[in-house]
Amino acid sequence: MEQVIQGKSNENRNPENTGEKVVVARHVKKAFDGLVILSNVNFNLHKKENIVVLGKSGTGKSVLIKSLVGLVEPDEGELKVLGKDIFNLDADEMEDLRREVGYLFQGGALYDSMNVCKNMEFPLKRQVKKLSKGEIKDLVEESLESVGLIESMRKMPSELSGGMKKRIALARTLILKPKIMLYDEPTTGLDPVTSREISNLIMEMKEKYAISSMIITHDLACAKLTADRMFILKDGTLDIEGSYDELEQSDDPWVRAFFD
Ligand SMILES: Nc1ncnc2c1ncn2[C@@H]1O[C@H](COP(=O)(O)OP(=O)(O)OP(=O)(O)O)[C@@H](O)[C@H]1O
Ligand SMILES: [Mg+2]
Repeated sequence: MEQVIQGKSNENRNPENTGEKVVVARHVKKAFDGLVILSNVNFNLHKKENIVVLGKSGTGKSVLIKSLVGLVEPDEGELKVLGKDIFNLDADEMEDLRREVGYLFQGGALYDSMNVCKNMEFPLKRQVKKLSKGEIKDLVEESLESVGLIESMRKMPSELSGGMKKRIALARTLILKPKIMLYDEPTTGLDPVTSREISNLIMEMKEKYAISSMIITHDLACAKLTADRMFILKDGTLDIEGSYDELEQSDDPWVRAFFD
């Protein structure tokens, strides 16, 4: 049974919930060498919804996000992403799916030997459709514009601050116009002001492109700003669910401890 903090599931009360599910996970399990990381993961992600996942270090948050794009293969369960059954995709189908699911890696790295512009063009080479030089230029400019860094186009990553690198990495992911964004600790290591900029960008992207997101974070300010619903990954499940306020005021001191 899902443990819902108050009353009926938040899923049904979420104003952003149009009913369209872009991710459906049921009884997802994953173990590494007999060590169970995900024991029974159940959740839905809806169109244009942001869900935030909290959890202690090493509990499997990155494993969870990686399983949504086939970087980790779950052992059991049902996992549908944009209507596609992750368990039954061949390599080409998985590649197609990955174009629609943006993934901002923990540590979100740029290629150090390429300038910002070349970094931005990189994912476009994976596109099926051959783009003209003009189309590439327009896409790069639009994406950099959306994160407010058009003037950094010719810079090398070494010339950028941590926050700028994160924004470029985000722009690079958005250039393929994903339907789903997976953010693995998007604000870690950034000062509070820059963190807020990134959180605001996450919200802007959701509004502008109707993106659905799963955001893994330890940053409560980011969670508060971006979350439509929140989950805490514990004992390999997402059974603890609620709005930010509900979890913050939970009767369970273990849950409340995340908000200290
Ligand atoms: N490819 C892998 N092979 C074996 N074990 C793995 C693999 N990937 C992750 N693990 C293990 O799974 C567990 C969960 O790792 P994961 O990276 O998902 O944690 P996390 O919740 O993201 O932690 P953090 O908050 O520190 O990023 C860890 O014990 C890790 O060692
Ligand atoms: Mg992690």
